[in-house]
Formats: sequence, structure tokens, C-alpha cells
Amino acid sequence: MKGIVFVELLGMAEDMLGETVVDQVIEGCDLPSGGAYTAVGDYPCAELLELVRGFSEHTSVPEPELQRLFGRWMMDSFSRNYPRFFAQRTGSFDMLQAIEDEIHVEVRKIYPNAELPRFDLNLVDAKTLEMTYHSTRPLAHFCHGLVEACVERFGETANVSLDDKSQTTGGHAVIVVARH
Ligand code: HEM
Repeated sequence: MKGIVFVELLGMAEDMLGETVVDQVIEGCDLPSGGAYTAVGDYPCAELLELVRGFSEHTSVPEPELQRLFGRWMMDSFSRNYPRFFAQRTGSFDMLQAIEDEIHVEVRKIYPNAELPRFDLNLVDAKTLEMTYHSTRPLAHFCHGLVEACVERFGETANVSLDDKSQTTGGHAVIVVARH
């Protein structure tokens, strides 16, 4: 995974827990890289999951909930650092429907070895979008947070549900966005 994701996770953790505690958690984690990340480096996704585990253990916030909070944090970061991906979008559905064929395509040009998920989208009706998330990485809850924050980013409200099927049927999950 791209270093930027790790840098942002540590940024969120510092915001929640302070630098000293974050350093303690890093020391207690099994991290081949030693826990020093640069935004442009590449690191195994297993380290991200290990850090989430460490922060969860320290805060008693369950790992799925931490992933989801991190997704929300990350959408904020994308929005600040890559405003051009948001500029011409008319709303959250327009944005979410552009991930697969436009946004992540551009991301791959910037970061050729980016590890990205795949989405099957189904616009059920004008207010309901069903997104099936496929990835070899267990980040469905991170995705849930990204989608929730995306809806808010466009000043909309919606019920965003996650049905994580990865436990039973392998690497996929269904996210349904029901706009109010
Ligand atoms: C609501 C919109 C978006 C959703 C739902 C989404 C979803 C995701 C998810 C779930 C991942 C984790 C990888 C995986 O699960 O396999 C990911 C990775 C990533 N996405 Fe998106 N994304 C969105 C928008 C964006 C935008 C606007 C950018 C702009 C730069 C972006 C850049 C990236 C990057 C850099 C990674 C990391 C790739 C890596 O570490 O190798 N995404 N995205």
C-alpha cells in the first residue's frame, strides 16, 4: 500500500491519542518496516492491519470501527489534497460512479503500483446506489467510512449500510447508499 495511507493513519492516531501513545503502540506492533513511513514509499497492507489492531487494543475501539473512522479521515485528506477529483462532480452518486473508470484510473497513473479495489455498481433508483466492493485486502470497513464521508462532502445525507460478506464468501462486501 502507498505510504500516504500509513502517514494518514498515524496522523489520525496522533490526533486521537497523542504522539507519545502512538509511539508506544508502534513499538508494540510487529512491523517489518519499523513503523517509519514516507508518503511515496510502498509498504505491506499487513502492516496497516497490524497498526489498526494495535490502536484498537489500546483504545478498545473495535477494529472495524477504527477502519471506518480512518476511511472518514482519509476522504477528508483526499478532498484537501486532490480537489480536482471532486471539482466537476455533481453529487455523491456522480462521484461514487466515477471511482472505477475515472478516479482510480487517474490514481493508477500517479501511483502505477497502487493496490486498488474493484466496484460493481447498481443504481437501484434515483436515491439508492448499491456498491459491491471486491478486494484482496480486508478493507471493507475503511471503504464504508470513505463512502459515508463522500456523501457528507457533497452536503447530502444518506443511510450508508455495509454488509461484509468476506467472512463467508471471500473478498467482497455490499455497501448500499440510500439518500434521504
Ligand atoms: C468515495 C470515493 C472513494 C472510494 C469509495 C475509494 C475506495 C478505496 C478503497 C476501499 C481503497 C483501499 C484499497 C482496497 O480496499 O483494496 C482505496 C485506495 C486508494 N484510493 Fe480510493 N476511493 C475513493 C476515492 C479516492 C480519491 C478521490 C482518491 C484520490 C487521490 C483515491 C485514491 C486512492 C489511493 C491513493 C489509494 C491507495 C492505493 C494503495 O495504497 O496502493 N481514492 N480507495
